[in-house]
Amino acid sequence: MEDLLKVEDLRTYFFTEAGVVKAVDGISLDVRKGESHGLVGESGSGKSVTALSVMRIVPKPGKIVGGKISFDGTDLLTLKEDDMRRVRGSKIAMVFQDPISSLDPLYTVGKQLIEAIRANNETVSKEQARDMAISLLSNVEISEPERRFNQYPHELSGGMKQRIAIARALARTPTLLFADEPTTNLDVTIQAQVLNLMKDLKKNFNMTLVLITHDMGIIAEMTSRVTVVYAGQVSESAETHTLFYHPTHPYTEALLKAVPRLDKRKQLQSVGGNIPNLIDPPTGCRFHPRCPYAIQICKEKVPDYEEVETDHFVACHRWKELSLVGVQ
Ligand SMILES: Nc1ncnc2c1ncn2[C@@H]1O[C@H](COP(=O)(O)OP(=O)(O)O)[C@@H](O)[C@H]1O
Ligand SMILES: [Mg+2]
Repeated sequence: MEDLLKVEDLRTYFFTEAGVVKAVDGISLDVRKGESHGLVGESGSGKSVTALSVMRIVPKPGKIVGGKISFDGTDLLTLKEDDMRRVRGSKIAMVFQDPISSLDPLYTVGKQLIEAIRANNETVSKEQARDMAISLLSNVEISEPERRFNQYPHELSGGMKQRIAIARALARTPTLLFADEPTTNLDVTIQAQVLNLMKDLKKNFNMTLVLITHDMGIIAEMTSRVTVVYAGQVSESAETHTLFYHPTHPYTEALLKAVPRLDKRKQLQSVGGNIPNLIDPPTGCRFHPRCPYAIQICKEKVPDYEEVETDHFVACHRWKELSLVGVQ
């Protein structure tokens, strides 16, 4: 399958008073047309900043300082701001963790949807846009769409707000949708509903999905390929089932051990230790201070990103000699 999005050696830094935060420090990512690609890692590992970089909406004091991003054959980093705005308006959309940041509290649901529809297609009349907005509300399974159309975001529940945010992203009929922890702030039952909805919409709207999450359970449920990031870098990437059954990076193993299992009443382990400071990250492999298998070379040398098998890559000095435990 063809790559829709190819990110190569992306570097996005935040120039803060405390120092330069290397939030994304050499991340590469291939997203193929039509796939559901997971981007997973603990909080603070650079997942959101990667998505914001692709959209070119990194907030100050952040700056993309290196790398290449190509989307459907277009080099996004050299695109003029006007052209990039068009890409954001009609090709790549994003749903955020907190729907508040994607919805404007001052405007009704309907007005926001119509604005998104018309940004994508200026020839649509007001009446047509209204009909399209109502149908989008039905697409995201909002009951009484006519009534919701006239409501303000604060009148809606969290789950409903997130559905509206998804509808607003869909209004742009994007080719690529970034969903950044879209269900993290929702109740568990609502989470499952919204994830199912996203699965259906991905199919019906023929989209490619990049799903960002810290939750391996959601990765298993929703994605076909996955890229694992740690402290601003990629540690492993593989097809999802390969990653679960045959992990080769100790960080992946640790994330898998932290997944709650219904069938096995194992004590849930969290990954020990904390994610490092990205102003002054550890030398060598960034995971070495937390890695149970670390040896001298891990402290000294940055591991190469090596091919384990087709479509499976890992950055670990010891992957060949370790036999890590996946899901059994
Ligand atoms: N506006 C900002 N200013 C300074 N540092 C930031 C800013 N936004 C993000 N960062 C830093 O970038 C790193 C990666 O953040 P992020 O991409 O949000 O992580 P994730 O989405 O994986 O939880 C973190 O160390 C975070 O503190
Ligand atoms: Mg994030």
